[in-house]
Amino acid sequence: MKLALASDHAGYELKKEVIRYLQEAGIKFTDFGCGPGESVDYVDYGAEAVRRVVSGEFDRAILFCGTGLGMAVVANKFPGIIATPCWDEFTATVSRTHNNANVLALGGRVLSPELAIRIVQIWLEKGFEGGRHERRVKKIFDLEAELCQKK
Ligand code: RB5
Repeated sequence: MKLALASDHAGYELKKEVIRYLQEAGIKFTDFGCGPGESVDYVDYGAEAVRRVVSGEFDRAILFCGTGLGMAVVANKFPGIIATPCWDEFTATVSRTHNNANVLALGGRVLSPELAIRIVQIWLEKGFEGGRHERRVKKIFDLEAELCQKK
């Protein structure tokens, strides 16, 4: 599993905590910024990481901003991406089992480091259930193909 990470300033501290966890757990990742002490636009950093998932260079991304909302919105603009903000163990579980999300968006201003790490653990470990959820996810990508065709 190749993981791409990115944050803005509001997600930076939480990203640091998750990075500490990933390092301890021996999970490989690449951090595409931002660095400490910068005030940046989440759009730029989220897009940088998600581009690498779209290209196939990375399998999934975990993005951090103040709420997780802005990063999820950015990521969902990209083809082939399903990005979900998650805020508890249940949303982390269904993000994978039902939505088959390949991008997780976390909020540094709304999650404790402990809960965020638990969410990451669940999100990395759970698989897609398929079945009826496969049909629903396929409909999302059919919509994407219909609405976002290149002119
Ligand atoms: C930055 O202040 C904040 O707006 C951003 O991190 C994020 O929460 C947007 O969704």
